[in-house]
Amino acid sequence: MERLQKIIANSGYTSRRKAEELIKSGKVKVNGQIITELGTKVSFNNQIEVNGTLLEKNEKKVYYLLNKPRKYISSVSDEHNRPTVISLIDTQERIYPIGRLDYDTTGLLLLTNDGELANYLMHPKNEVEKTYIAKIEGILTPSEFYSLKKGIVIDGRKVIPKHLKIRKTDKLKSYQIIEISLIEGRNHIVKKIFKELNHPVSKLKRESFAFLTLNNLKSGDYRELTIKEVKKLYSLK
Ligand code: URA
Repeated sequence: MERLQKIIANSGYTSRRKAEELIKSGKVKVNGQIITELGTKVSFNNQIEVNGTLLEKNEKKVYYLLNKPRKYISSVSDEHNRPTVISLIDTQERIYPIGRLDYDTTGLLLLTNDGELANYLMHPKNEVEKTYIAKIEGILTPSEFYSLKKGIVIDGRKVIPKHLKIRKTDKLKSYQIIEISLIEGRNHIVKKIFKELNHPVSKLKRESFAFLTLNNLKSGDYRELTIKEVKKLYSLK
């Protein structure tokens, strides 16, 4: 027996908080009966319906690490019919990406059908570190570099990089390659940071997510996480 909101969140349908809202607003049925009380304990074997959709039970949990190519959208479907990251993975399970990479961003993206782990890894309070390599227009002045190192306010909230390093400076072509690690999960955050400094990002790649790295995985290729890696992600909790 588990709390109803936990079962809904674990199924990957939505976050625990949204599941609670759905329960309170009478959108959840257990064995055909509307349940509005939070914390009601139910068994996985019950028929749980959320907004008219039956939750699938006993799904096998799968975990993939993809090297996302450019021009793929990080969602399950796209209203403009652009190819999705899901289409790159050969699976029968209903997977979805853990967080997002922009259409033109490449690199490490995790996909799973494990809602519990996905919700955990995406929540900013859990401080999962991600490392990005950004090619930026122009060269950061020392004062821009240090103001970024100290933290920069984006949309009213300060972002302090966990690590910041200049990997390459090309004065002739006027660009830099910057390595930046963040625990932030806000959309377009790296692009917003450098836009704020008047050095727009022209290329962006995510190199790592927590302890996971791309290693030699080619663009468009993917692999399953090992049991050890999944356990290690869970142990971040
Ligand atoms: N920050 C961005 O600006 N874009 C991404 O895709 C990821 C992080």
